[in-house]
Amino acid sequence: MSDAYGDQPTVLVLDFGAQYAQLIARRVREARVYSEIVPYDITAEEVARRAPAAIILSGGPSSVYAQDAPHMDPRVLDLGIPVLGFCYGIQEMALHLGGQVPRTDVGEYGFAELVVTDPHSELLAGVPHISQCWMSHRDSVSVAPPGFSVIARTPTTAVAAMEDRSRRLYATQFHPEVAHTEYGQHIIRTFLHDIAGIAPAWTMVNIIDETVERVREQVGHDRVICALSGGVDSSVVAALLHRAIGDQLTCVFVDHGLLRLDEAEQVVRTFRDQFHIDLVHVQAQDRYLALLEGITDPEKKRRIIGEEFWRVFFEEAEKLEGVRWLAQGTLYPDVIESGNKTAATIKSHHNLIPFPPGVHFELIEPLKTLFKDEVRAVGSELGLPDEIVHRQPFPGPGLAVRIIGEVTREKLDTLRRADAIIREEIDAWDTSHSVWQYFGVLPDIRSVGVMGDERTYGHPIIIRAVSSADAMTADWARLPDDLLARMSNRIINEVEGINRVVYDITSKPPGTIEWE
Ligand code: XMP
Repeated sequence: MSDAYGDQPTVLVLDFGAQYAQLIARRVREARVYSEIVPYDITAEEVARRAPAAIILSGGPSSVYAQDAPHMDPRVLDLGIPVLGFCYGIQEMALHLGGQVPRTDVGEYGFAELVVTDPHSELLAGVPHISQCWMSHRDSVSVAPPGFSVIARTPTTAVAAMEDRSRRLYATQFHPEVAHTEYGQHIIRTFLHDIAGIAPAWTMVNIIDETVERVREQVGHDRVICALSGGVDSSVVAALLHRAIGDQLTCVFVDHGLLRLDEAEQVVRTFRDQFHIDLVHVQAQDRYLALLEGITDPEKKRRIIGEEFWRVFFEEAEKLEGVRWLAQGTLYPDVIESGNKTAATIKSHHNLIPFPPGVHFELIEPLKTLFKDEVRAVGSELGLPDEIVHRQPFPGPGLAVRIIGEVTREKLDTLRRADAIIREEIDAWDTSHSVWQYFGVLPDIRSVGVMGDERTYGHPIIIRAVSSADAMTADWARLPDDLLARMSNRIINEVEGINRVVYDITSKPPGTIEWE
C-alpha cells in the first residue's frame, strides 16, 4: 500500500521529465484516485514494495532515441499491475516489449483527428469513432509489440493507441491529460475505475481524516508552532492542525502592517474568535516601518521584510516552552520542484531558507501531498471563510512591493483604501473568478490636476488586473469601460491625495504581474 495515505489505493506516475507529470497526477486525483509522482527509474522491486493499484508513464523527450533519453526499469511492465503509457510512455513500452519505433523527422504537434479502429477496445470504451486529441511528438510506434492490438490511429500516426488486455498494458501516443483531448479525462477514468478497478473514493473528507490521524501519531503530546500569514496555505495548515491536536498548537501571526484593508483583523477574527486557536498576534508594524524608512530599492525592501519576518517569528517561538515542531504549508508542487529535498529548510516566499544558527524545530508539513486546488477544498471543508480559501496570490512582502519607492504609513493607508475599492468593484463584477489577480499600485510620482476650482498635485493609482493560469505568463484583463470608469470615479472621490487613475495594459512578458 501507499506510503502516503494508509489504505488509500495509489497510482504511481512515472515522471520522464516532462511538464506533464504534475498534470497527470492532478487528473488522476480529479478522477478521485490518489496519485504520486515518482522518478522514471524507480526499480521494479520498489514498485512492488509500494504495491500501487496502477501505474501511468508520463510524456517526456520527443523520442526514445534522444540523447540521454530516460529509460524505465522494464521489469515494471511484468509486475501484473495495470500500466498506461502516454506519448513517450507508449514509445518506452514498444521499445521494451518488441515493437518498432522508427526514427522520423516529421513530428505531429497540436490537434489531430483520433480514429478509434477497434470498437471493442477496453481503454477506448465509450470514445466515439472520431474525436479530437492532442499530439506532441516526433517519433512514434509503427508496429505494436507482440500481444498488443492497435486500437486507434490519426492521419499521421499508425499506432495512436494500443492495448494488451492479457498483460493489462495500455498506451496512447496522444496526451489524454490535456484539456484539448476531447475524451482524455474519460479515458483516464476508464483506465482507473474500470480497467484497474479502483473505486473513486479519494475525497477531501478522507484527506482530512487521514491527515489528522497521521499528525496525531507524529506529534504525540508535543507542542507545535505555525507561522500564520493569512494566505491560503498557512491558514489551511493551522485549521487542519487545530482539528488534529487542538491546544497543542500555537499560531504566530507576524503583523508587518503591509497587508490589505481588514486582512489582519480577518486573520484574528477567523483563527482566534471562530476556531479558538491559541494565536499570538505580534504587532510589528512600527518595527517594519522603521526598518523600511528611506529604503527605495525593491530587492532591499524584500530582503529586509523577509529577514525581519523570521527574526520576529523565532523571537516569539523562543518565548514558548517546549515547542518541538514547526508546521508549514509546503505543497506537493514545492516538493516535486525541489526534488524532495525540503527537509530542514523553511519555505519563505519563493525561497527555502535554512534555520538560523541555534534554532531547531522538526518540520511538520501536512499539505505536502496536495495540490493547490485540493488545499482550497480542504480549507472549505474545515470551515475557513471564502475570503481566505479563494484569496488571490499576495506577495509575502505585501503592499511594500506595490508602493514604488519608500514605504510610509501615509502611503500604505492611501494604497489600502484605493486597493479596497478596486477589489470591491472587480469582485462584484467577476463572480466567476475569471480574473487571476487584481490590485492597486502606488507609484512614486505626482502630477498636476484640477478638482473643483483648485489645482491639485497628487499621486496616481495604477490599476493592475491580469488573467493567467499559473502566474508564469499573464495578459491584462479586458475589463469593461463602465467598470474602469466606476473604479476611477470612486478612487478619486474617496481617496485623498489621488488625482489620476491609470490602467496597466502590459502583458507578462514583457511586464511582470507586480510592479516591483
Ligand atoms: P511577478 O510579479 O513576478 O509575480 O509576475 C508572479 C506571481 O508571484 C507573486 N509574487 C510574489 N509572491 N513573494 C511572494 O510570495 C514575492 O516576493 C512575490 N513577488 C511576486 C505575484 O503576486 C504573482 O502572483
